[in-house]
Amino acid sequence: MPRTDDPSRLTKVYLHLDRLADNMRLLQQQAGGRELWPCIKANAYGHGADIIARHLYRLGYTTFCVADVGEAMALLDAGVDATFIVLSAMLTEHIPALVKYGCEPVLCTHELVDALAEEAERRGKRIAVHIKVDSGMGRIGIRPEQLPEFVSHCRARPSLRLRGIMSHFACADEEDKAFSYRQIENFNNALAQTQCDSLVIRHMANSAAIFDLPKAGFDACRPGISIYGLRPSHDILNPAVNHLKPVLEWKTRIVYLKEVASDFGLSYGRTFITDKPSLIATVPLGYGDGFSRRLSNNVDLLIGGQRCPQVGRITMDMSLVDVTELRGTVNIGDEAVIIGEQNGLEIGADELAAKLGTINYEIVTAISQRSPRIVV
Ligand SMILES: Cc1ncc(COP(=O)(O)O)c(C=O)c1O
Repeated sequence: MPRTDDPSRLTKVYLHLDRLADNMRLLQQQAGGRELWPCIKANAYGHGADIIARHLYRLGYTTFCVADVGEAMALLDAGVDATFIVLSAMLTEHIPALVKYGCEPVLCTHELVDALAEEAERRGKRIAVHIKVDSGMGRIGIRPEQLPEFVSHCRARPSLRLRGIMSHFACADEEDKAFSYRQIENFNNALAQTQCDSLVIRHMANSAAIFDLPKAGFDACRPGISIYGLRPSHDILNPAVNHLKPVLEWKTRIVYLKEVASDFGLSYGRTFITDKPSLIATVPLGYGDGFSRRLSNNVDLLIGGQRCPQVGRITMDMSLVDVTELRGTVNIGDEAVIIGEQNGLEIGADELAAKLGTINYEIVTAISQRSPRIVV
């Protein structure tokens, strides 16, 4: 991580933790009294896992979902004393670290169950585990009809404690919920055929399901994108989604200003030629920061309370912005907003995602470690 007090870093992520708390309150209302296990994988969707995990912990959340053992290890080593569920599939070679750190794996092969049980026995530990059922996502997970046998297999190992049985949606964020209802039915059928005590926690809901599929609530939910105040898609039906508040702002500052003549080519490949004498600002922001080069000549920044067009190719470390309209008022050192608000105007991660033909998840997750994460 870059030092947060490094004065040379002018492109920064600002985190509004009050909004994180508001989003958690909203999600808790939607999920009723169920436990929420926030997903803080991929550096908390680019927001900064350390800061987000600590704040969620202060708010009373003590079980977090991460992608791999390494993400959990980093947070545990940094003193975040929480329970970590490792969502992605792992190899047997990852088991020693998982057992040492006491993380909770998601299991879907006998090989992993056996190797984990043996390592836990060797270390005299009992490890809480989750079984993943593939109810229709087609990614990791056993087939629903395999659940009874798989549960027995886990139960036969005293060094393992079955804490959860889970599944994951493929299309919960789409308007048509037919396939999601089929997935809920598949999961329910698998659970119905399985001898399970009431201590086993059933969990399936992601953000979209928390808003739109109350039948998927089960015992615990795993919200990700919504805790950061971003909507899972534009097709969420529940109007409560409108109350989410983006936690992150991404801002930089102008480091250079230059008057150029008309018919002047800008940046690599000269993909932008001025059609009038222009004032061009340079900002220390590029694809090395996670500002996609594919946005070149197709994105605005907020400067001086106005939308200003980015011009010419975005390079690794610097980009150009046409600030001709601000001539006489704009100065070196002025703020430029990439994602966030300025003077009542707003640019959201959704706007950048739409331009790139992707989802807001990818925009925020792509913000590189180079931007220090600062608590507002
Ligand atoms: C298994 C699992 N559960 C929950 C989530 C959270 O999903 P969302 O960010 O859409 O809430 C994810 C995200 O990728 C996931 O992979």
